[in-house]
Amino acid sequence: MNVYDSARMAELLAPLGYCPTEDAADADFVILNTCHIREKAAEKVYSDLGRLNEIKRARAAEDKRLTLAVAGCVAQAEGAEIRARAPYVDLIFGPQTYHRLPELVARAARASGAVLETDFPAESKFDHLPDTRAPGTGAAAGFVTVQEGCDKFCTFCVVPYTRGAEYSRPARQALAEVRSLAFQGAREITLLGQNVNNYQGEGPDGKIWTLSRLIRAVADIPGVARIRYVTSYPADMSDELIAAHRDVPALMPYLHLPVQSGSDRVLAAMNRRHGADDFRRLTERLRAARPDLALASDFIVGFPGESDADFAATLALVRDVGFAQAYSFKYSARPGTPASALPDQVPDAVKAERLAVLQDLLDTQQRAFNERCAGRTLPVLFEREGKRAGQLVGRSPYMQAVHALAPKSLLGAIAEIRIVAGHANSLAGERLAA
Ligand code: 5AD
Ligand code: SF4
Repeated sequence: MNVYDSARMAELLAPLGYCPTEDAADADFVILNTCHIREKAAEKVYSDLGRLNEIKRARAAEDKRLTLAVAGCVAQAEGAEIRARAPYVDLIFGPQTYHRLPELVARAARASGAVLETDFPAESKFDHLPDTRAPGTGAAAGFVTVQEGCDKFCTFCVVPYTRGAEYSRPARQALAEVRSLAFQGAREITLLGQNVNNYQGEGPDGKIWTLSRLIRAVADIPGVARIRYVTSYPADMSDELIAAHRDVPALMPYLHLPVQSGSDRVLAAMNRRHGADDFRRLTERLRAARPDLALASDFIVGFPGESDADFAATLALVRDVGFAQAYSFKYSARPGTPASALPDQVPDAVKAERLAVLQDLLDTQQRAFNERCAGRTLPVLFEREGKRAGQLVGRSPYMQAVHALAPKSLLGAIAEIRIVAGHANSLAGERLAA
């Protein structure tokens, strides 16, 4: 979602004469779009800021100005701290206020200290974003935020505080954005939201549309061949959405469904509103609807009070369900969240050991899944050139990176590729003879 937000910011700044550069040393304006989910991500902001301040000072020595901004969830959660620790920052704004960027830039040019904009505005930013994408982006796969924010309050998580309450964009607005992306060549659309499967946007018919209703409408848009949605909350997987996996061919057979833990005790302490067996049954129902469905997930190890037995229950769940891909993290105590105040914090050495064991199991499953793809023919959406001459890199329906020798004319297109080998993180394929 930060990638999506950054792209929207670039569009908002284009009319002011800004264009993107890859090199901070070359920039007049640097925006750090930040993540607050774990301590490591948040701390990185301060080290990056120190580095950027050196560029700013060198620029000032030449009598030139570098405007420095912090956006995103660290700005939202730690605005005052950023001001204190990095007083040279010109502009601090949260994830719900970036539509005001043109005005904020003007204010920062006049102000002596940092301009701070972290209130949750009454208006939705989505009503104030440019309604067309910058021409020429033309990526083969595009993202559209359709839902944002979270009302779930998992006890470890900052998102309900930084992104705010759950909000769903009206379907008409989301569909217009999908059409615009498809017009520019996107064949794959990923619908984004912190709880995207709880989408409840106003439909063009005045009724509330669910995510499955929205997916069916996206599938009808010319040019859209693949649909994904990310990320989902297990307790919000409705029968109707499971049925969409059976009925909508464009909906890819790959689902990211974070479970966090396989222990009922830990899941309850996390306020996840489902047990481990509920999750097992849910994956069975999904696979009954779409037998070739591959699952991905997120895990946290070392949540306060997690015992060896709780951790063993997580490993058991992973073995039972089988994942094609997963992200796993050491629990990170976040300021202001209920879990950070719990008494039984797990020592870092224990967290590290559990993380290594879990990642070993998940890596084994991922590699086995990739190896099982060898011998199959899969449709691959080619997105970019590879490192080797004549090679393109694309994505399989299961999100695997696929490398194959193919002409550049296939960039942005879907081609049938015979998979010859599955590796830890990618597949090698061959084009079928035409
Ligand atoms: N510590 C560790 N991991 C976390 N996540 C969210 N909050 C924390 C935290 N405090 C993980 C969850 C979530 C993913 C986006 O980040 O697994 O699904
Ligand atoms: Fe955070 Fe996801 Fe839980 Fe919401 S549902 S509080 S975003 S982990």
